[in-house]
Amino acid sequence: AAVLPYPKISVGKAQSMQANTPVSFSYPDGDSPCVAIKMGQRVAGGVGPDGDIVAYSNLCTHMGCPLMYDPATQRFKCPCHYSMFDPEKSGQMICGQATEDLPQIQLEYDPASDSVRAVAVTGLIYGRQANVL
Ligand code: FES
Repeated sequence: AAVLPYPKISVGKAQSMQANTPVSFSYPDGDSPCVAIKMGQRVAGGVGPDGDIVAYSNLCTHMGCPLMYDPATQRFKCPCHYSMFDPEKSGQMICGQATEDLPQIQLEYDPASDSVRAVAVTGLIYGRQANVL
């Protein structure tokens, strides 16, 4: 099957994002909840003026439960069976029932407009055969 192109979707303005506070959006379509987070320190793959904004699918890779971001530990935690994922390490699974890392949403930053946009996904969103349906 042909691979469909990813859409470009606006996540918001970098300046309006507060450190350690998740911003919800959907990508690549309305049925795929995601969150963007300004980590507060530069991270690999981070975008924006401070290189610290990253984004992930918010569905646990184990059975698809919505994840909670814990600002104290800066990790995603699954309330269903306690898997944990690290947003500073490309969504790496730290522990739990899941076997896959959290799919990372690839971001693009436009300094002129201060806009952060979602442009692609690395990894397969839970429950899908393909990210773009
Ligand atoms: Fe998240 Fe099971 S659904 S650990």
